[in-house]
Amino acid sequence: MSLAGRLELPDPASARVGLPAARHPGLRPTPPWDDPALGEIIVPASELQERIGVLGAAVTADYAGRPPLLVGVLKGACIFLSDLARAVGLPVEVDFMAVSSYGDATRTSGVVRIVKDLDIDLSGRHVLIVEDIVDSGLTLSFLRRNLLARHPASLEVCALLVKDGLQETPLDLAYEGFRIPPEFVVGYGLDVAERYRNLPFVCEYLEGEPAAGGR
Ligand code: IMP
Ligand code: MG
Repeated sequence: MSLAGRLELPDPASARVGLPAARHPGLRPTPPWDDPALGEIIVPASELQERIGVLGAAVTADYAGRPPLLVGVLKGACIFLSDLARAVGLPVEVDFMAVSSYGDATRTSGVVRIVKDLDIDLSGRHVLIVEDIVDSGLTLSFLRRNLLARHPASLEVCALLVKDGLQETPLDLAYEGFRIPPEFVVGYGLDVAERYRNLPFVCEYLEGEPAAGGR
């Protein structure tokens, strides 16, 4: 008996949501978003990719002979981590954790709760935290303290974006992508209520900063 017969799978044609791209000859690879909430592009897609190539080369040189464990902070860093990992010429491992911050509408308080912890034991590992954006730096300082307590062989941070002038504690980032103005931005992993993460660039969000919460 065929597998499809036993499981009574739906006809794949009826489950299809879109037509194969070949049937849309006019489609461009990245359709522009027509959304009035999106403002000026702060970092274009090409600059992100170019800079991530440089960061990947630096990580490759610095960690030669001791491949790092990349720890991505969900959900914002998932897209950056995916591209960064492919720009590193070493057999890296990857793990993720998710944190949520308590704060008022616009500022994180620095009180952070782990929503999803790592699966991998950090003791003796060379750990590189991969963060999407550093704003006040409070989330990062919590993560650093938390992960250091697990006795890694080394612990460094790679942050794609750093907002100018808002940090309350010294950041000490081993790798930094771009300094950006202190405005709320979306795209390339960064969201508002889970939207805009799939924009291939980073742009200003014009409708004000949303309430603090999930990262
Ligand atoms: P911090 O603790 O103030 O440094 O906040 C860092 C976290 O807040 C980041 O990991 C992001 O998830 C989130 N965040 C800060 N600024 C922005 C932004 O402009 N857009 C989207 N998320 C942001
Ligand atoms: Mg984050």
